[in-house]
Amino acid sequence: MIVLGIETSCDETSAALYSEQGLLAHAVHYQAVHEEYGGVVPEFASRAHMRTLIPTIRYVIRRAGLSFRDLGAVAVTYGPGLVGSLIVGLNVAKGLAVALRLPLVGINHIEGHIFANFLEEPFPELPGVCLVVSGGHTQLVLVRRLGDYRVLGRTRDDAAGEAFDKVARILGLGYPGGPAIEAAAAAGQENAVSFPRGLMENSYDFSFSGLKTAVLYYHRALSPQEREKRLADVAASFQKAVVDVLVAKALRACQEFGVRSLSVVGGVARNRRLRRALEELAAETGIPVFVPKPEFCTDNAAMIARAGFFHLLHGVRSDLRLAPAPSLNLDSRYLPTD
Ligand code: KG4
Ligand code: ZN
Repeated sequence: MIVLGIETSCDETSAALYSEQGLLAHAVHYQAVHEEYGGVVPEFASRAHMRTLIPTIRYVIRRAGLSFRDLGAVAVTYGPGLVGSLIVGLNVAKGLAVALRLPLVGINHIEGHIFANFLEEPFPELPGVCLVVSGGHTQLVLVRRLGDYRVLGRTRDDAAGEAFDKVARILGLGYPGGPAIEAAAAAGQENAVSFPRGLMENSYDFSFSGLKTAVLYYHRALSPQEREKRLADVAASFQKAVVDVLVAKALRACQEFGVRSLSVVGGVARNRRLRRALEELAAETGIPVFVPKPEFCTDNAAMIARAGFFHLLHGVRSDLRLAPAPSLNLDSRYLPTD
């Protein structure tokens, strides 16, 4: 069964094909239009999805040497995300399902991120802890088995990627902020400025707005010359503060629940400082740590096709009433039956 995955929840237009043979093809169309606004403009995002989604689908089918007739099912992100963006993906998915008489399955975007570590073997052994760190979400999830999740904690304010984006704006760096901060931090000392960690000892929840405000006040107090001189140190110290919190909470959850693996997914998992900290954690504790290839950390349809493949095999189907769910929770999705 060849599953076409479609992802349009935010500002990446993406399509992929996944089957028993693994990932057959995938493509992500990056929307550069948002860069000059310093963040995603929802109306521009949905218009760009409308222009590029069908060409992107045609491209992956051609890349795999297939035709539309070879498709066996369609999996599409139905939430959480921007409503206008979700609608484009959903309508194209439904149109294809009707025209080609294919089964349709709606996928929770967060669950899709979790499946990014199941594209290529070795897969994480379960039960595991999965840290989802992206621009829209920061959640610590106990994955009892695929399809069975318990959210242990989530951010109370900014998502980790959002904190990177906002701090990059404060420091006058570009958008998206994560790669810009990472690049600026390369020449900096990460112990130069002691920013708050916001650890909240008795909770798995996260909070990054205090850290963001601390960077803002620190930056404001500097003269323009000092700002330039200290930029690398501030970026490195901020990045280290985020990494410390993420790693500390993930480790505590792994120890409390005695899991067999730790996975870290979402756009922030591309961050090389975080990846290094996770390697160190694995070496020190013996907990196997899994991080997807960078292209499967940020939003992509490969992970959606993969999750769809799993649910379709378990008999899960959506009907044409499948509606966009902008605030969908990981807990509020249907579970496959045994
Ligand atoms: O998963 P994703 O593509 O979209 C959402 O579902 O939100 O994540 C995008 C986020 C952005 O906030 C971006 O700044 C962040 O991931 N990001 C990074 C890096 N690359 C992307 N954050 C830190 N370091 C990076 N290298
Ligand atoms: Zn995402």
